[in-house]
This record gives sequence, structure tokens and C-alpha cells, in this order.
Amino acid sequence: MNVQIFDTYSELSQRAADIVADLIQRLENPVLGLPTGGTPEGFYAALVRRQAEFDRLTTFNLDEYVGLPKEHAQSYYSYMKARLFDYLPLQPQRIHLPNGEATDAEAECHRYEEAIRAAGGIDLMILGLGHNGHIGFNEPGTPWESRTRRVSLAEVTRQANARFFASHEEVPKEALTMGIGTILEARQIIVLASGESKAQIIHRTLVGEPSLAVPATALRGHGNVTFLIDRAAAALLEPVVEI
Ligand code: F6R
Repeated sequence: MNVQIFDTYSELSQRAADIVADLIQRLENPVLGLPTGGTPEGFYAALVRRQAEFDRLTTFNLDEYVGLPKEHAQSYYSYMKARLFDYLPLQPQRIHLPNGEATDAEAECHRYEEAIRAAGGIDLMILGLGHNGHIGFNEPGTPWESRTRRVSLAEVTRQANARFFASHEEVPKEALTMGIGTILEARQIIVLASGESKAQIIHRTLVGEPSLAVPATALRGHGNVTFLIDRAAAALLEPVVEI
């Protein structure tokens, strides 16, 4: 596992955008897995300033709330539109999010897995990290071989995401999410974490015993994972001696 520590959030965001721009240059049909939330905002802002052949890019978002209309301001579709899709020349048929309004969630999740497979799998998966170690919306206890499916959000996750809604009650209770098994099939994974509130979970993820209780520890078994974190999120890691 590779851990890169940056002085600022802006630097880690730029680095993530550099990696994606490089991927687009290297691959003919690059396929990217994408997160939402607070952490990747700087990455998306950096990405829209890059010059790259974005029309060749295929994207799959990690998750979507169940029950929020696509047009709702807090749907992950709206999030992506406001931060990325409206600014890059992505081809609409190459943009994918699970449909949280699907009447048959199981069929929708199956369709999503098939679409990832048909695209040739995910070349680079970008992840944020929940305070409880969730990746996507795979909450503690999720089996590591899990696939895309309908899940309940942990209360701590609903509380964390309440900052984006008018009230805590409005935060959806369920989502469709890629599974840990789906995520682990990506050829390369990058985890972004920023701020002191992530220091404890970064420490547990990188140093603690791998365990179902901390879903992100599943990443320790993947051969190509890079953590891009700022100094605040790295605060509990062993200090690197600088001379
Ligand atoms: C969002 C997602 C979540 C977030 C995580 C961290 O698509 O999959 O796992 O990455 O909840 O969220 P922030 O960045 O808001 O702390």
C-alpha cells in the first residue's frame, strides 16, 4: 500500500486530478469509479481545470440514495452534475450512477454490475472514507465479497450527511451501493482523506487489524491502493523523521 501525505487539501486534490489526467492519456477507454461527499470536491474542481480527452472517459459512481428523485438537489446525480458533468465534455451514455428510484432495486443493481463488466471493469476507483470506515455505503459488518445492492445507512453516516440536507430527518435511510467485492475488482484504487476528523479512521485503516468492523481494511488485500491524505488526517500515523 502506498501512502502519500500532503501539506494541504489542495495539494492532495491536485494530485488526484493529475492521476486521472494521466490515466486518460495512457488508456484508450479509461473507466473511472467515483465518490461523492465533501472530500472529493477539491479533486473535481481540479479536474475541470485539466486539459484531457474527457470524451473517452467512462464513469461509474459508487452509490446513490434510494428514494430521492434524480433532480433532487442532494441526489448524487445532482452532486455530480453540479461539480463535474456540467463542466466536462463527457458523453452522456458513458456516465453511470445507480438509479435510486428503480422500482426493482435488485434488478437495477444487477444491471449496474453488468454495465461495469461490459465497460471492461474499472481501471481506477477513487474513494472517500467514512468516519466508521465505510467505503461506498458499505457499512461496518459488510462481507468483503458483497456486490452492488440496496443497503441501510448507519446512523452515524446519516448524521454526517445531514449537513447537506435541511434536517437530519430528510437524509435518506437507504442507498444503492457498489459492494466491497465490486470495489476490490478495480485495477487501481485511490483513497482520499482530509482533516483531523479522519485521523482516527485513517490510523485504524492503515495500522489496525483488518476486520469486517472497518470495511476500508478490506483494501489492505488489494495490490494497487494509494492513500492520498493531508497532514491533519495523517496526525495519528507514526511521524516520518525529516532531516
Ligand atoms: C460517497 C461515498 C462515501 C463517502 C464517505 C466520506 O459516494 O461513497 O463513502 O466517500 O462517506 O464522505 P465525506 O467525504 O463527506 O467525508
